[in-house]
Amino acid sequence: MKSKASAPGKVILFGEHFVVYGIKAILCSINKRVTVTAEKTNGKKISINSKIGKLVLEPNKSISEINSPLKPFYYLANKAIKNEDTGIHIEIDSEIPLGAGLGSSSACCVAGSAAIFKLFRDISKEEILEHAIEAEKTIFKNTSGADCTVCTYGGIMEYDKNNGFKKIEDKPNFQLVIVNSNIEHSTQSMVSKVKEFENKNKEKFSNLSDLESQLVKDVLKLVKENKTKEIGEKMNKNQEYLEILGISNNELTKMIRIGQSSSFGAKITGSGGGGCIFVLTNESNSKNILKKFKDNNYECFSTKIDFKGLNTF
Ligand code: MEV
Repeated sequence: MKSKASAPGKVILFGEHFVVYGIKAILCSINKRVTVTAEKTNGKKISINSKIGKLVLEPNKSISEINSPLKPFYYLANKAIKNEDTGIHIEIDSEIPLGAGLGSSSACCVAGSAAIFKLFRDISKEEILEHAIEAEKTIFKNTSGADCTVCTYGGIMEYDKNNGFKKIEDKPNFQLVIVNSNIEHSTQSMVSKVKEFENKNKEKFSNLSDLESQLVKDVLKLVKENKTKEIGEKMNKNQEYLEILGISNNELTKMIRIGQSSSFGAKITGSGGGGCIFVLTNESNSKNILKKFKDNNYECFSTKIDFKGLNTF
């Protein structure tokens, strides 16, 4: 028997990094997915196969000894197997660009958690999410949980790490264009960089957190009123705060200025240092924005909000 699940990638619209410190963020999931297929096998091995590589190991290995980006899948399979006399084979198929701040690892953890545990028993979305966050912690121990949460439930949501998520029911009519810097980055090291900033600049960080918190409150009102232009202005403000934290660089700033000059707003999404930016636009202008970035040799695509979240089949 095979068990299959898919989960969407995500964009952090507002509040990345600050969310790690308990400030509310606004996120949405996007229409690019990871699909994970799991099946029981004879012989006690956990084998994982994806475009980025393979991992084949006996169960019950210590996670700290495993040096592979596929270890969240091993963690999940090992937990699900417990003492049962079986192996598991896992196949991963992804349309989300890797390591680009679009939630590919969170979507993997969520779809992996669902596909693997469903081989053994029925499991609720809440429990799938819990295991997914544990699995993500094997590669990024300080995760706020925001990414896995939006990949599980889909749509647009507000999220804070102490109170969880609340779906935003209004369906805004803006469009997003995502542009990839193709600069690799590590979420773990960018989060450590912000921690260093916070340690050295306590008062400045606290002031910025207050500003971000107010900005998110304002945006929640603007989303209800469908005021795209004003939401774009808040994005540009949020980008300024991220630049103060030191997570932008020359290339990202160049991309953002291109986006800001021809749309409502543009900012980094995710941990920064590389990865993607996104541009807020509307249907009539999105082709123009795509052309502008393509003319400058950037990889870009327009995306829609996914309202489905985790899907099992
Ligand atoms: C990464 O996509 C978002 C960060 O805020 C980290 C997190 O929330 O866990 C940088």
